[in-house]
Amino acid sequence: MNVLVFDTEEQIGVAAGYYMCGQVLQKPDSVLGLATGSTPLKAYGHMVSLYKQGAVDFSKVTTFNLDEYCHLDVKDKNSYHTFMYENLFNHINIPDENINFLNGNAWDLEAECKNYENRIKAAGGIDIQLLGIGSNGHIAFNEPADAFQRWSHVVALKQSTIEDNSRFFDSIDEVPTHAITMGIGSIMQAKRILIIALGTKKAKAIKQLIDGNVTPECPASVLQFHTDVTLMLDRDAASLL
Ligand code: PGA
Repeated sequence: MNVLVFDTEEQIGVAAGYYMCGQVLQKPDSVLGLATGSTPLKAYGHMVSLYKQGAVDFSKVTTFNLDEYCHLDVKDKNSYHTFMYENLFNHINIPDENINFLNGNAWDLEAECKNYENRIKAAGGIDIQLLGIGSNGHIAFNEPADAFQRWSHVVALKQSTIEDNSRFFDSIDEVPTHAITMGIGSIMQAKRILIIALGTKKAKAIKQLIDGNVTPECPASVLQFHTDVTLMLDRDAASLL
């Protein structure tokens, strides 16, 4: 694994933004796997600024987001749709029809999961997957469990994740209890993976990701088996290494 440690969140945002845009410069019709949460915000900001400078063109890019809450209106301020449009898609030139999300309001969620996997395959697979990591080691909404879930699926969120995410909602009772997420197999099939982690809260999960046992109790640990993983960490997230 390629572990890069930076002094500030700003530096990580610049480095990660260049990394993602570098992929698009090399292959203009790249398929990007994208993440939500506070972690990638600065990276998206830098992607927008490179686009505004004319340094990169997203017109042929396709995106697949990792996950979405179930039974939350996509127009809700806390939906991952809203997050992605506000922080990235509204500011760059990815055609709307190239933007893919799991639909957490689909009538048949199982069919939706199968369909999403087929769409990723039809697009030629994900060239680069951007990931954050949960304080409990989750990636996307693959929560600690007894077994790795291979493909896209519906999950009941762990209490720790509900608590982590409650900061965005008016009260913890408003946090959805279920989500629809790409699976570990879907993520592992990405050709390259970029993980960003910020803060001491992530240090334990990062330590386990890098040199702990590979176990579904820390879903991110499976990334030890991927051949092209880059981690961009601040000093706090790297503090246990
Ligand atoms: P965060 O979430 O970026 O808001 O810390 C990361 C994650 O849960 O994957």
